[in-house]
Amino acid sequence: MNILITGGYGFIGSHLAEYHLNRGDHAYIIDNLSTGSLDNISTFINHPLFHFEETNILTWPDLNKTINWADRVYHLAAVVGVYRVLAEPIEVVATNIAGCERVLRAVAASQWQPRTIIASSSEVYGHSQQPRQNESDTLIMESSTNARWSYSISKLADEA
Ligand SMILES: NC(=O)c1ccc[n+]([C@@H]2O[C@H](COP(=O)([O-])OP(=O)(O)OC[C@H]3O[C@@H](n4cnc5c(N)ncnc54)[C@H](O)[C@@H]3O)[C@@H](O)[C@H]2O)c1
Repeated sequence: MNILITGGYGFIGSHLAEYHLNRGDHAYIIDNLSTGSLDNISTFINHPLFHFEETNILTWPDLNKTINWADRVYHLAAVVGVYRVLAEPIEVVATNIAGCERVLRAVAASQWQPRTIIASSSEVYGHSQQPRQNESDTLIMESSTNARWSYSISKLADEA
């Protein structure tokens, strides 16, 4: 299989790439290295089935072409982490919502529409005091004046 992983230099993406390489799949990862690291891919960087590119999901010119190549897409590229979310709320919303929209539009326009997995977050469950929640529960979100909520709202928008 041909696998495209956005945010592939990150924690989850790099392990996913290694998993697919070990299965004999081609793994193509892209990342802007904002929080990801080359160290994460150092053990398989020379693997013959591995391809990587440093680029931004918001502007990557080869997105459509690569999605047409892919059998499966994992969209993980996102601004994450409490520090970045508080320091760069606009970047959170721009990357997480517009990046996901760009990927989903490219998948919808592609020839085969590969299976696409997007990474959400438990943060989408919001501010409920209930000990357990279901995905179909009505949500309570804090005010968007609190920058911390930009991440939850961006992931919820991606799910929608
Ligand atoms: N690790 C967790 O516990 C957890 C929990 C819930 C959700 N998630 C989600 O899973 C995904 C992966 O998380 P992770 O823990 O591996 O984080 P991570 O920071 O290690 O990986 C995210 C990757 O996205 C890249 N990235 C950010 N902006 C980009 C852009 N504009 N263009 C291209 N690449 C960009 C970063 O450089 C990084 O390598 C994220 O979408 C995150 O929101 C993770």
